[in-house]
Amino acid sequence: MIGIFDSGLGGLTVVKELMKRLPRHDFAYFGDTARTPYGTKGPAVIKRFGVEDARFLVSKGAKIIIVACNTVSAVAIAEIRAAVKVPLFEVVVPAVLKAAAITDGRVGIIGTRGTIGSGIYARLLEDAAPTVKSFGQACPLFVPLVEEDWATKPEARTIAAAYLKPLRARKIDTLILGCTHYPFLKPAIRAALPKGVRIVDPAHEVVEQLAHFLSTHAAVDATLGKRGVRRFYVSDVTAHAAAVASRWLGKPVVLEHATIS
Ligand code: DGL
Repeated sequence: MIGIFDSGLGGLTVVKELMKRLPRHDFAYFGDTARTPYGTKGPAVIKRFGVEDARFLVSKGAKIIIVACNTVSAVAIAEIRAAVKVPLFEVVVPAVLKAAAITDGRVGIIGTRGTIGSGIYARLLEDAAPTVKSFGQACPLFVPLVEEDWATKPEARTIAAAYLKPLRARKIDTLILGCTHYPFLKPAIRAALPKGVRIVDPAHEVVEQLAHFLSTHAAVDATLGKRGVRRFYVSDVTAHAAAVASRWLGKPVVLEHATIS
């Protein structure tokens, strides 16, 4: 099966894309709801958590892992690669490649403090498209808004307008949603930007990259079950988390407890 993990429930945006694009593939999701958010933590802690999360999914039978968290993708990929021996997909590179392909030259990047502070998007964009200018903006209130299911409330629009104001001033033509929680805030983010700004959603891009990989690596694809089995693990099972996950995926989700160490 395919293993997918995030610091919390935000990685369900990747699950949504996966269910659309590869509907028969078995998967297990892990959301580290007991330790979320990761974006406000330092690199050493994010690395440790990322490795533990990936190892948990491998212990459950994952033959491929998607790191559905920009914060972990930004700071911990080398450590996870060293710790688990299955193909690893992350969300930063596919989003950068997409943005480089569609921008007219001015890209905004929004993410957690950890992701923006790592500077990884700016560095990789410069490598992919040296003439493109990039502008980062940390949006630390976005993750709690999503985890609390406030993404569609008027307060979300007010906060999005405040965070995006500096990027508007920079006249960006493309915006990377550099956090897997953010697609849930798309209406608020869109409303805060001039019409015509293109939005890059890493959740969509990583699933496209995985689908392409599987179509060209039949031997790996053959190791993944395709009975439509879907498991959802979290490190803190609460009625709130189950209700939010079910609402986002549009079907009842049963959360199973996972002990991570
Ligand atoms: N969804 C995560 C990301 O993509 C992390 C949010 C957090 O835990 O701070 O960055």
